[in-house]
Amino acid sequence: MATDAVPESRDKLPPPMGEGRGGGLMEKLVSLAKRRGFFFQSSEIYGGLQGFWDFGPLGVTLRNNIKRAWWRSMVELRDDVVGLESSIIMNPKTWVASGHVQNFTDPLVECKKCHQRFRADHVKGTHHAEDGGEFTEPRQFNLMFKTHVGPAEDSSAEAYLRPETAQGMFVDFANVLNSTRMRPPFGIAQIGKAFRNEITPGNSIFRLREFELMELEYFVPPAEELKWLEYWKDERLKWHLGLGIRREKLRLRPHGKSELAHYASGAFDVEYEFPFGWSELEGIAARGEYDLSAHQQASGRDLTYFDDLKRERYVPHVVEPALGVDRSMLTLMIDAYHEEQVRDEQRVVLRFHPSVAPVQVAILPLSRKEPITSIAGKVEHELRPFFRTEYDDTQSIGKRYRRQDEIGTPFAVTIDFETVNDQAATIRSRDEMSQVRVPLAELRQALEERLR
Ligand code: GAP
Repeated sequence: MATDAVPESRDKLPPPMGEGRGGGLMEKLVSLAKRRGFFFQSSEIYGGLQGFWDFGPLGVTLRNNIKRAWWRSMVELRDDVVGLESSIIMNPKTWVASGHVQNFTDPLVECKKCHQRFRADHVKGTHHAEDGGEFTEPRQFNLMFKTHVGPAEDSSAEAYLRPETAQGMFVDFANVLNSTRMRPPFGIAQIGKAFRNEITPGNSIFRLREFELMELEYFVPPAEELKWLEYWKDERLKWHLGLGIRREKLRLRPHGKSELAHYASGAFDVEYEFPFGWSELEGIAARGEYDLSAHQQASGRDLTYFDDLKRERYVPHVVEPALGVDRSMLTLMIDAYHEEQVRDEQRVVLRFHPSVAPVQVAILPLSRKEPITSIAGKVEHELRPFFRTEYDDTQSIGKRYRRQDEIGTPFAVTIDFETVNDQAATIRSRDEMSQVRVPLAELRQALEERLR
């Protein structure tokens, strides 16, 4: 075990993403994610299952932080949005009315030679280099997972795992309206699992078959739909920036007519420049009155809103920002990932924003002997209610700093042999690798200032 917390020096600034970081970045990130317990393949001991991933201890915390940040900004800090938790399996009539049974499809082609199947828009030319192996004509493949409800397995018991949480907000619209004081413009928000039998899942947790959605359905007077689409696209971009994502890696892209989902009248994607190119991070769609009208017609229930000030009745239009927790997590990890040279060693650091970092403060005693352990234990006990902390007394201090850098911990508090005499500890910063001496009694305040 090392005996001092020597200041480190950084030889050069991190290279920008791209050349310096692009090559093999996904592989490096997936390896880090497994090594440190962010995410790994589901049921890996049986060979895994394509499109399904598990989240380890740090991954769960990171996801909870993302979900908390989303809920805070979309529900708690607003007076025009309420929450909902609807069930994953719904009456299958829902998916007929919503158009998903008919239209929630991707074009599927099969290689005539090896019978492998692909999403038509994901293959170019042929995948056999040696000859021109051909694909079948595309056919529409429905992405919804089917299951059976109850002890019968005939078609009358067939149901679907939801491919989006949104339909819960539409079929519960009247229940929410009648049980609250909400009136348009207002929103219903939900976080929950969704399932899609994607033809080509991949890029680790980018495209999954089981994923988690954070969705807002924002109900507005028909004439205000485009105004609110503009509003939400700006708001959502700001949210990603607030979690520390670099501005130059984000862009807003309006959808062309041909790529609009079956329900949408206009849409934007918030895109991020992933190592595999610019891709969708979040979708923001104007769904018009499509869903409420469809459910009104299919169910025979009244899903209109009566505006008693203007004395008019209408089916509200909907603007919907929808973001995957998994995709937000992947984006945050990629954006935070940096490699840099420290003396003759390479350091990998995840520069997480403090609000999402799984561990905010690491407590690192320099020895496993008394009185250092008691002091360190007491420091952790005092800091734990206020920060996400981790106590680590294994290995050399250098190795422990490297580990905390790799999991993105913004600050470490090092308790050393001097602490016994001066009742102070060292706060070491992840980003600057600078160290300051702070009295034990002022640690909490000093950390609060730095993490704010
Ligand atoms: N209710 C609207 C809706 O579901 P979407 O564009 O299909 O819209 C919204 O999905 C977001 O959900 C995407 O922008 C992405 O963040 C995430 N998402 C969609 N499909 C996904 C998948 N197969 N794996 C992981 N995340 C996915």
